[in-house]
Amino acid sequence: MRPVDVISRKRDGHELTAEEIRSFVTAAASGSGWQDAQLSALLMAIYLKGMSAEETVVLTREMTDSGKRLDLSDIPGPKVDKHSTGGVGDKTSLILAPLVAACGVNVPMMSGRGLGHTGGTLDKLEAIPGFRVNLSEAEFRTAVRAVRIGMIGQTRDVAPADKTLYAMRDVTGTVECIPLITASILSKKLAEGIEGLVMDVKCGRGAFMKTREKARALANTIVKVAKLNGLRCEAVITAMDAPLGRAVGNSLEVIESIEALKGNGPADLTELSVNLAARMVQLSGVVKTLAEAERKVTNALTSGQGVEAFRQMVAQQGGDARVVDDYTRLPTAPKTHDVTATSAGVIVSLDAEAIGLASMKLGGGRARSEDTIDPAVGVIVRAKPGEEVRVGDAVFTVHYRDESRFHPILPQLHSAYTLTTGSPSELPLILEEVT
Ligand code: URA
Repeated sequence: MRPVDVISRKRDGHELTAEEIRSFVTAAASGSGWQDAQLSALLMAIYLKGMSAEETVVLTREMTDSGKRLDLSDIPGPKVDKHSTGGVGDKTSLILAPLVAACGVNVPMMSGRGLGHTGGTLDKLEAIPGFRVNLSEAEFRTAVRAVRIGMIGQTRDVAPADKTLYAMRDVTGTVECIPLITASILSKKLAEGIEGLVMDVKCGRGAFMKTREKARALANTIVKVAKLNGLRCEAVITAMDAPLGRAVGNSLEVIESIEALKGNGPADLTELSVNLAARMVQLSGVVKTLAEAERKVTNALTSGQGVEAFRQMVAQQGGDARVVDDYTRLPTAPKTHDVTATSAGVIVSLDAEAIGLASMKLGGGRARSEDTIDPAVGVIVRAKPGEEVRVGDAVFTVHYRDESRFHPILPQLHSAYTLTTGSPSELPLILEEVT
């Protein structure tokens, strides 16, 4: 089979055969058989012509099998994970993993790093002194056995075809493509050895998917393709117009997560974390209904079992668990500055993307994947939508190190909120579910 023929068939709108998809994926993983130009051309043809559910199922399976599938069947108990398509201030993984573990369900979680305006779970965890996200497979297994949680980065052996293709998509304008996103996300999740997956598909100005229609289309495809690959899966579409919670920036988000586990979290963050955790518990099969799962998760939160599970998880992965009681052990920015309201009113909207970019520019995130980050810096949202401010009240507190990084983001933050004199209409956080 010649790559040019496969590309031409997709260009002309035909469905690819399993052999054609396998040839493409094998070449991406091995670096031979297809030229990079040909891999990129097929990515663009898929972007333009789409893929059927059947093609996407095959692409996902082939991408999973381009690497190693972890077999965790020797570890007792159900194994479930959650994946978010990425947002600003989204630290739910740090909260729900301990809550789910406290309910007797294993959470073997392979997460990513932040890129652009969105944050990544690994970067947040690495703000904790000593915390290791690069566990060996044996260490990962030991962690899941010991504390029911393992939180690591994607290893070299997992879905190698995705590494090549994702990097290519990044430079060829082919990232925003539902079949390619689906196969990319699910190939890594299927390789984790989990039985169930809850997807949080973010929707709004701070998300990948800006509209409800696009978020719904992605959620539907992911759920369908996951199930056809033998993985129990459900999705929720959640609002990502304003940051989730108040903290944006790695160390600041760890503090907010611990506070949430102690029962002092912002309402939106706690609501979503509990909801996603409950879905994971229900999907695991340890309870029958979502209401039962919600009661179990809420009990884990209010009884303090969740925060204890967090402490154990941190210690298990080499981190300083004393951070749970002493936030001064976390990296702290040397300077802070309040961005204050210049008129009075009620906050009607916050621009999550602008706030995420501000944190990134302070050093809290990456413009390119090879950038290093400063865990201490970030932005605290002092006034969330629906909250009232008077002239001079703080809307944001910026935590920063370098004046040269701080000054350019000030105008950006001043235009990252809007005020109303009326009462703002309240939008729900959890918009839809897809099962
Ligand atoms: N996250 C992924 O892992 N892959 C995509 O294609 C998009 C988001």
